[in-house]
Amino acid sequence: IDRPPLQLVKGMPILGPFAENWKDVERFQARSDDLLIATYPKSGTTWMSEIVDAVLNDGDTEKSRRDNIFNKVPMLEFWVPGAIPPGSEVLDSLPSPRLVKTHLPVSLFPKSFWEKNCKIIYVARNPKDVVVSFYHFDKMNQLHPEPGTWEEYLEKFIQGNMGFGPWGAHVKEFWALRQERNILYMFYEDMLEDPKREIQKVIKFLGKDLSDDVLEKICLQTSFKAMKENPKTNYTAIPSTIMDQSVSPFMRKGICGDWKNHFTVSQSERLDEYYQKEMSGTDLSFRFLV
Ligand code: A3P
Repeated sequence: IDRPPLQLVKGMPILGPFAENWKDVERFQARSDDLLIATYPKSGTTWMSEIVDAVLNDGDTEKSRRDNIFNKVPMLEFWVPGAIPPGSEVLDSLPSPRLVKTHLPVSLFPKSFWEKNCKIIYVARNPKDVVVSFYHFDKMNQLHPEPGTWEEYLEKFIQGNMGFGPWGAHVKEFWALRQERNILYMFYEDMLEDPKREIQKVIKFLGKDLSDDVLEKICLQTSFKAMKENPKTNYTAIPSTIMDQSVSPFMRKGICGDWKNHFTVSQSERLDEYYQKEMSGTDLSFRFLV
């Protein structure tokens, strides 16, 4: 595959193949019992997907009818021409209640999700760890543009010239909507700090009542170590022509603070400046170390 360039959709840079499939995304019909997992890329999408699947199956993902990486939690906008059908097509054929994941920013969300007032779990992660994770992901993912040098990449991130656009607008827009909409807003750093406490929030949001034993089991099953070893969650089912895990594994480090191994002092200050500017006037804030 030749790495396709980003394309603009309504002014927002989107990964090439996903942009080509845009009509399908817009045509998509939500159902009122759809449950959405929304994130800026590299913020814990796969982790939350596994948690939700486990919670809905009372801790037993073996029972889950979502048995592979494609149908587990399909991504609305995902598409590999000639290889993997559009996520919207996969979703059309699934029985309710469906789990849907998406990286779309609020401005590109299909209207029908709002009309049906679907439940949304949003996961946000601090921008320093996001850009590091995204950099390694872009290196290994052949559907993404070449990341260039780390220095160049960081600049692109700050300019918002990334697949799915700028980080700041993404996290802020969902934050602003969380009370008027059915949104559980979660933080990757909180999940790392106390998975049990955070999974309990998900259980409550989904209206479930699970025993402590089941909760313990879900914590174990959704730990980084377990998910890295699990072929249903570690993306090894995706052909290496798309995701070359010898370049960087999908389940890379799973920590908070790896940015310290990548940023120089001045790069860190540059991102701090961007962060301060983006967060000014909001009551949203992130932790950079846990
Ligand atoms: P790193 O690259 O920093 O390791 P997404 O699923 O949104 O693409 O996010 C991927 C990031 O989440 C990767 O971060 C990955 O390692 C991390 N991740 C996945 N599962 C995790 C888990 N169970 N616990 C902690 N981090 C996890």
